[in-house]
Amino acid sequence: MRYFLSVIIFIPALLSAASPPHWYTRNKHTIQKIYDLTVFPTNARIISEGASAVPDGLFNINATGRVTPLGEFFGFQDSIEYFFGLAPLPSGVPPNGAFINATLVQFTSGCPEVAASTVYFTVNTINPDNTPGPFITALKQTAFWRFDRHGAVIEYEAWIPSLDRFASAINGVDFYGPESMNGTIQGICGQQAQTCVGNNTVYNGVEDCIATLSAKPFGRLDEAWGDNVVCRSIHVLLTKFRPEVHCAHVGPTGGGKCIDVEYNDVFFNDELLFGSSRKPFNCKNWDW
Ligand SMILES: *[C@@H]1O[C@H](CO)[C@@H](O)[C@H](O)[C@H]1NC(C)=O
Ligand SMILES: *[C@@H]1O[C@H](CO)[C@@H](O)[C@H](O)[C@H]1NC(C)=O
Ligand SMILES: *[C@@H]1O[C@H](CO)[C@@H](O)[C@H](O)[C@H]1NC(C)=O
Ligand SMILES: *[C@@H]1O[C@H](CO)[C@@H](O)[C@H](O)[C@H]1NC(C)=O
Repeated sequence: MRYFLSVIIFIPALLSAASPPHWYTRNKHTIQKIYDLTVFPTNARIISEGASAVPDGLFNINATGRVTPLGEFFGFQDSIEYFFGLAPLPSGVPPNGAFINATLVQFTSGCPEVAASTVYFTVNTINPDNTPGPFITALKQTAFWRFDRHGAVIEYEAWIPSLDRFASAINGVDFYGPESMNGTIQGICGQQAQTCVGNNTVYNGVEDCIATLSAKPFGRLDEAWGDNVVCRSIHVLLTKFRPEVHCAHVGPTGGGKCIDVEYNDVFFNDELLFGSSRKPFNCKNWDW
């Protein structure tokens, strides 16, 4: 009896030491690789070179998803602009920071096509020689992922909690203080004047932009989707990739992106976003 019991106790111990299925490891590597590309200075290269600097095999050409509280992203180009184009670059005086590492603190994958993860991005100041300076803050993202049969991400649904608090922490100021809000509007208007030119012009100059944005609600990053300033502060970062797409979002009308949205529509429109009524983040052979 004693022997029998010890076998029972011992077998699970052996099993738990076994290596995970190959797709578990593959999926984990894919997610870690995606997040590693947001770390400075790797992200700077993607920001300057665009899609061609993103390694093959990470995102399917049709990769689509929702990142709350930022919005929805349709296709490879949209998705990589969000994942890499918004990762911070060090700037300003005193310098705000960039991601110095991206650590998967939670990861699970119960079948080849689905995984879930939480990543902590560590934000430090960046020294002039690009080495990390002191710690500033961190950012968290939790996500569900769906992979195609080659292991590339095809669908995702992610959340960033408390982007509001993060914005104040990384900038070292109250992001919603009057000076900071003024600085945000000045920053958007200055930047769009560099990137939204020629056919992509959306304002009659910087002063027009400042007047237009000062008359709009400032908004909150935790509800960034709206006809407000914070939405434009995010989309202006993307105008360097595809000005013909993103300048309109920064402009007076919001170009269909920085517009007031219906909560009931946008947070639950999975059929429209993912193109079918199936629930993408369940293991297909088991639950659905
Ligand atoms: C992307 O979507 C289009 C349209 O549904 C489809 O024809 C194409 O095969 C898809 N490409 C991949 C790589 O899944
Ligand atoms: C990320 O950076 C932080 C701060 O320097 C450090 O505490 C942490 O151990 C790092 N994580 C990894 C995985 O390197
Ligand atoms: C906003 O910032 C600009 C540039 O720093 C400054 O010239 C202007 O006086 C500020 N406006 C307000 C209302 O604080
Ligand atoms: C601006 O748009 C017009 C009309 O579509 C086009 O003919 C022209 O080449 C464009 N100019 C630039 C600089 O893209």
